[in-house]
Amino acid sequence: MAEIYQAVRVTDKVYWVGAIDWKIRDFHGYDTPRGSTYNAYLVMGEKIALLDAVKEPFKAELMSRIRSIIDPERIDYIVSNHSEPDHTGCLARVIRKVKPEKVFASKMGKKALYEHYAIDVEAVSTGNVLDLGGLSLKFIETRMIHWPDSMVTYIPEVKALISQDAFGMHYATGERFADQLDEPVLRRESDKYYANIVLPYSPIVKNALESLASLDIDLICPDHGPIWRSKEWVGKVLGWYGEYVEQKPTMKAVVIFDSMWSSTEKMAQAIAEGLIEGTADVRMINLHESPRSQVAHELLSAGALLVGSPTINNGIFPTVADVMTYIEGLKPKNLLGAAFGSYGWSGEAVGVLENTLDRMGVERTRESIKVNYVPTGDDLLKCRELGVNIARDMAERI
Ligand code: FEO
Repeated sequence: MAEIYQAVRVTDKVYWVGAIDWKIRDFHGYDTPRGSTYNAYLVMGEKIALLDAVKEPFKAELMSRIRSIIDPERIDYIVSNHSEPDHTGCLARVIRKVKPEKVFASKMGKKALYEHYAIDVEAVSTGNVLDLGGLSLKFIETRMIHWPDSMVTYIPEVKALISQDAFGMHYATGERFADQLDEPVLRRESDKYYANIVLPYSPIVKNALESLASLDIDLICPDHGPIWRSKEWVGKVLGWYGEYVEQKPTMKAVVIFDSMWSSTEKMAQAIAEGLIEGTADVRMINLHESPRSQVAHELLSAGALLVGSPTINNGIFPTVADVMTYIEGLKPKNLLGAAFGSYGWSGEAVGVLENTLDRMGVERTRESIKVNYVPTGDDLLKCRELGVNIARDMAERI
């Protein structure tokens, strides 16, 4: 049909009808320099189901892609795998237009959809199967990956897993399939997505991966980013997730800091020199000019976190507070580290940072360093030594 937006064939029976958000650069605090997609899928048995919807402003794009292959009113069922508004923002309007026979979500999804939009849906649980005639939708709840309502839908006849946020990434492209894209970029964006969205739920993800191992999967169709088709690509992304849940420490040391008058920055540089001497792989991140999601991304495969802040008004610098709050919530594991910073008179910042590192379970293997006003040459040598010693501690753990 003559539509601006076209559906993309995934299999004879499954079509991508989502939306491409080329311009988003901040996804609730996560920087998205490559944009994103909101994926939705039409599953065409004798009955037709729409799996997931899109963010509210993209309703016209979704409907156009659907119209490119069928009259939207032919849709019999809508399934909401995940209630977050990037997948349900236009759902109420889509339901009004399509008038489906039924709308399904998990029990917690039913609650969330009602509380967000006053939409009343039918609840399904793990093991429930919706027969479309020739195709079936098998529901599997994946509670807390990453919301309580989250579930995935398996279509055994085409060996496809419609996986909502899991195995997704924020990456807007004209290509719909991972095998059409550059693998190192996919790996980077997948890592970043996991680190910023899924990381706190890693123990649950680990269990879910074990459950998924019993399914025969040729296709993973996530709600963001490219579709993984073929056993090879499915195996790749499952393998990446297997690494993420373990978070094995490496020789990567992430040094994050901000500075008022360059004293804390000089300390960071001296620490980095020591880390390099100790053969650590250093990532220096000045928080004044770097997004918080970059820190989370780097920590996913790190062995150490060193954090520096000057003391300001009896506390830590606002940019450092922002990032520490963010990464504490993401619960990275298997890190060792230390705190450092300069101060003028009261000097609380390093203590505040130590407390945060302790709450995060970061093992502080070396003494923190505080410097009054401006680091002397001896102070900087101590910072360098701290870096050397942290690198040594890292090497002993891998
Ligand atoms: Fe893509 Fe959790 O929403």
